[in-house]
Amino acid sequence: MERFVVRGGRPLTGRVKIAGAKNSALKLLAATLSAPGEHLLHRVPDVADIRVTLELLRTMGAEATLDQAGTARVVIPDDLEPVAPYELARQMRASIIVLGPLLGRFGRAQVAMPGGCNIGARKIDMHLAGLEKMGATIGMEHGDLVATGSLRGANIVLDWPSHGATENLLMAATLAKGNTVIDNAARDPEISDLAQMLRAMGAKIHGDGTHTLEIEGVDALHGSTHTTIPDRLEAGTYLIACAAVGGSVRLEGARADHLELLLSKLGTAGATIDTDDTSVSISIDERPRAVDIVTLPYPGFPTDLQPQWISLLAVAEGTGIVTENVFEGRFSFIGEMARLGADIRTEGHHAVVRGVPSLSAAPVEAPDIRAGAALVIAGLCAEGETTVAGVELIDRGYEALEESFRGLGADIVRESIA
Ligand code: EPU
Repeated sequence: MERFVVRGGRPLTGRVKIAGAKNSALKLLAATLSAPGEHLLHRVPDVADIRVTLELLRTMGAEATLDQAGTARVVIPDDLEPVAPYELARQMRASIIVLGPLLGRFGRAQVAMPGGCNIGARKIDMHLAGLEKMGATIGMEHGDLVATGSLRGANIVLDWPSHGATENLLMAATLAKGNTVIDNAARDPEISDLAQMLRAMGAKIHGDGTHTLEIEGVDALHGSTHTTIPDRLEAGTYLIACAAVGGSVRLEGARADHLELLLSKLGTAGATIDTDDTSVSISIDERPRAVDIVTLPYPGFPTDLQPQWISLLAVAEGTGIVTENVFEGRFSFIGEMARLGADIRTEGHHAVVRGVPSLSAAPVEAPDIRAGAALVIAGLCAEGETTVAGVELIDRGYEALEESFRGLGADIVRESIA
């Protein structure tokens, strides 16, 4: 067990290199199951969830490694065991993502019901309804989902633009017989990244980045080489941290076109933003102003940056209202924020945050990846020494968060808890 020890009050200055997107790389690794042969994936972040996914691929019979330069090499054999066991699936809810590619390629798949973050019920009904519409039969056996059937194209309308359901059904459809249309699809950049890799593998996909995906099923796919997009959520975390605590930071490799709404909100809060093709820079020399946000599927404000935004509002000038529409459990860290002296009242899926001039350090615990990052940001703003326990959750999504913050001048270290 480890924790971060943060001494707040220092502005952030300098540069940080943005890693590949965790939420893209996880699906790109799952997509390799769709084709035998060698797959090379560059800019894969070395985070805990990626290590679990590589282990999952190995358990099924693939070769799967990640080198120090961030290149994952996956070799998928002609035949493998299409089973995601409980010991791995319980560590990461995204394991459900292997269902579509396995079913598409082998006509059968067994996936233990996923575990995951403490941010809500995290249902998978849309994944299953879509696969059933494509001809799969799905049942539960001893806690595992067991799916069989040879898939055929279908017209699917999602109840909500679910990120994961769109990806699962997209992968399944690439190897289904005939054409599939996924309407009310999610439009996240990670989905376009996945579509781009699948096209390089021989898939026929149109409409990614829009609400309607069209997929022409093909008989087989092949290995490819692909580079993961940069992590917009990691970039967003550093941008919000800088706006909250002050300073001047340049994010190398970040893509401004994936961060448009956040950059506009940061500008309204008083930050100066500069962007070019390969970086995003922020500077701010005053206390940020409170700005309301409403989380929505992309291109709306990302739910994965909502906790960090609450940390910013906690020290901003004025009162901000946060409306969370995506995950019902995403305010679960607010009790910890109160321990740091934040003034926050929640009512259903709304939070009213009254900014205070300064927070006061305290021991707190991260309930999930993003709330963990938010507590670190709050610690950077607080007077005194804050300890953030639950670092293993933060490590699921960030490559050594404390090292990046230290590189920007923050006083933060990782220590073991006896
Ligand atoms: N939902 C259903 N039924 C479904 C699928 C989703 O009701 O079949 C609900 C969920 O319960 C949730 C909402 O729809 O309330 C949105 O879920 P979505 O499927 O869009 O999210 P996800 O695919 O489970 C991914 C990311 C999350 C990110 C969300 C939203 C990965 C591995 N996870 O989750 O990232 O918050 O999209 O953008 O890609 C994180 O990185 O910390 C994280 C939680």
